[in-house]
Amino acid sequence: MRVIYPGSFDPITKGHLDIIKRIAPKSEKVYVAILNNSTKNYLFSLEERLELIRKSCEDIENIEVVYFDGLLVDFAKKLNCSIIIRGLRAVSDYEMEMQMALVNRSMYKDLETLFMVADGNYSYLSSSIVKEVASYGGDIEQYVPKCVAESLMKKLR
Ligand code: PNS
Repeated sequence: MRVIYPGSFDPITKGHLDIIKRIAPKSEKVYVAILNNSTKNYLFSLEERLELIRKSCEDIENIEVVYFDGLLVDFAKKLNCSIIIRGLRAVSDYEMEMQMALVNRSMYKDLETLFMVADGNYSYLSSSIVKEVASYGGDIEQYVPKCVAESLMKKLR
């Protein structure tokens, strides 16, 4: 199956990477799709997010890092993907994820959303919390790939 794993990835964390590593061997192709919403303020530019994901995933053969700025369903259709992958960390994720899955399915019936339960070690992680810890000078190496930690530290210095 051809799957799409969408997100803001601002920046990619070890939680995202864990999902990618677990789904890749079970898929023909994984598209990691970065949302680039022009009205949103990202800490990392699109080019930086692309580069950091590419570096973090360089040992995974069947993935491609791509970006989009419209509806996810349109982009998934264009890439011929039939599955959206989303990670679920806690019950608090459920409401929003359910809404997104239902609205996506209402627009494109052949596209299913599959939820993967986040690894227990990463179930508290989010890009926002990592940025917050880093902004106060906390050590973030355990939360993000090495290249991300370096880039984040450089940015906040
Ligand atoms: O990492 P995030 O920010 O939780 O990812 C959210 C994302 C990118 C999956 C979602 O915002 C999205 O798909 N946006 C694209 C616009 C769209 O299709 N909206 C309708 C369904 S929510």
